[in-house]
Amino acid sequence: MTAKLILGTEIRETILEELAAEVQAIKAKHGVVPGLVTILVGENPASVSYVTLKIKTAHRLGFKEIQDNQPVGITEQELLDLIDRYNRDDTIHGILVQLPLPKHINEKKVLNAIDPDKDVDGFHPVNVGRLMIGGSEVRFPPCTPAGIQELIVRAGVPTDGAEVVVVGRSNIVGKPIAMMMLQKERGANATVTVVHTGTRDMALHCKRADILIVAAGVPGLVKPEWIKPGACVIDVGVNRVGEKVSEKTGQKVPILKGDVDFEAAKEIAGWITPVPGGVGPMTITMLMRNTLRSLKFKLGIA
Ligand code: GUN
Repeated sequence: MTAKLILGTEIRETILEELAAEVQAIKAKHGVVPGLVTILVGENPASVSYVTLKIKTAHRLGFKEIQDNQPVGITEQELLDLIDRYNRDDTIHGILVQLPLPKHINEKKVLNAIDPDKDVDGFHPVNVGRLMIGGSEVRFPPCTPAGIQELIVRAGVPTDGAEVVVVGRSNIVGKPIAMMMLQKERGANATVTVVHTGTRDMALHCKRADILIVAAGVPGLVKPEWIKPGACVIDVGVNRVGEKVSEKTGQKVPILKGDVDFEAAKEIAGWITPVPGGVGPMTITMLMRNTLRSLKFKLGIA
């Protein structure tokens, strides 16, 4: 058996086209466009490349976009003041502070300073609470879990009553996707189990999964024999396992490997996401959707 590939690269394009059309319709009717600011402190190369891609995507969709780069020596208070300024700026609907922040800045304090109604990452405790309540309370589902759910829905994987097993309990992926998949809603209503480093027999649980969502950050953690034949396997792992020279650019690029042994798993699973090209492209796409959602809430049309 060979699994159907769930390609985030393709699904992303479809969603971006949908979002761009919606942005144009809102602009024509209400005369406003979504505004997104990304705040980057310092010059961490991975962060620079993420932020650049976020801003490029926002630009492509017709958003107002601001890339606010700050020196690594910015004080915590200066950063809090900057966030306060964007909180009060009516043309800005989404504020994203790129993580990680330098050690002298308290990350929690900074994230909590963002207006929850502009917190398009969905990291503020108010939005974490809204997500747990579910339904119409939800404002900004965090981007990677939202991308995972979107892949599952658009691939046509049945979720109603499905056994979902999540590997990993991070605040950014494991916990929120578990919460989202158990809500009594479309693309969810599943029976959810979360396994983690304290789990006695991880394989036992994974083998029961109709949908296996792996976000552990351990390359090749999930063995092919842990996968139920026909299951949907979502691999969130992006592990740098080496470097190679790109044929296209001649530059050194990282070799990426997922948390699942893809080559063996694809012969057993019913659906599977590749790494790269699966979940990865969805995160920025969902950030754009959340920023548009923020504007729609403000206009009373969400
Ligand atoms: N750094 C790596 N991923 C993310 C993300 O999703 N949001 C923010 N703010 N920073 C990140």
